[in-house]
Amino acid sequence: MVVTTFLRGSSYVKICNTPELRRRTLDDFCVAAGPSSKELAMKIAAETRSRVVNVESKIFPDGESYIRIAEEYLPHYTVLVQSTYPPQDRHIMQLCLMIERLQEMNTNVIAVVPYLAYARQHRAFLPGESISLKVLARMMEAAGASRVITVDIHNVEGLGYFSIPANSLSAVRDIAFYLKERISPENTLVVAPDHGAKIRAETLSVHLGTDFAVAKKERDRITGEVTVSLPEIEVVRNKNVIVIDDMISTGGTVSAIAKILKAAHAKEVIVACTHALLTDDAMERLKKSGVNEFIATDTVPGKFSKVSVSHAISEFIRRL
Ligand code: R5P
Repeated sequence: MVVTTFLRGSSYVKICNTPELRRRTLDDFCVAAGPSSKELAMKIAAETRSRVVNVESKIFPDGESYIRIAEEYLPHYTVLVQSTYPPQDRHIMQLCLMIERLQEMNTNVIAVVPYLAYARQHRAFLPGESISLKVLARMMEAAGASRVITVDIHNVEGLGYFSIPANSLSAVRDIAFYLKERISPENTLVVAPDHGAKIRAETLSVHLGTDFAVAKKERDRITGEVTVSLPEIEVVRNKNVIVIDDMISTGGTVSAIAKILKAAHAKEVIVACTHALLTDDAMERLKKSGVNEFIATDTVPGKFSKVSVSHAISEFIRRL
């Protein structure tokens, strides 16, 4: 067992390869496909050769969520896949309804939440703010989850709010696999749009065999306005640049960086992210700033989901 204690005093507990867990076989698993992640759940079920549990869902005319799991018997563990992209609150409510229902059926619920909503509010940035992720963690635990798996959580400190085992997997290897065939390392540079994305960018650059650079970003906490700068900007001249971030919401961050890259004579600007939330007119903003290509994973399913996180999740589940 690995226990990491964060500054705040809370702990992130990772249980790995204990004899009890190693005794499990894939027959002990089934996969429940939440309404927000049906396709991804099917892929995970196929990769882990697990049975799929049918989840019925609907929305009542007043907007309330309904869940029914018409199963008589469930194996010892159920891998429930439900991402919490917009509409976040609805997807979270469905997640909690499913967790509660499943645990009532005497199965241990492994909640796979590929995009974990509210993870950006993992601390109070201004006095008096609610720590949203802490509340979400409590809700999932109160509903009965026995373990949580997410992908590229905004800040790993956020895992400390869970008192059940919680892991954040990385999509970088799969993103790298996709990009590898499409770039030539010698004239490509990977850029992190801010310090928080540094490790991700560095990891991608190692996979691709390229250099990497880290931009400086400042965001006005009240207006949300973003300003970025890249020290040694001249290195981007005549290079193809891959900007990698955990998520794209309004597109403000990556479009700000794309503008300075293009102004410094970068050739192609490829934007890669794990979670393509794409609120408002994010895509329009990206295009206007000169972004040539945009790729994302299926944590948020959509037309830019060119990379699947199913393999990373299946591999992790197999090793539990
Ligand atoms: C922030 O630190 C995140 O890593 C992303 O850079 C940010 O959340 C993206 O949001 P937006 O697209 O609205 O700038």
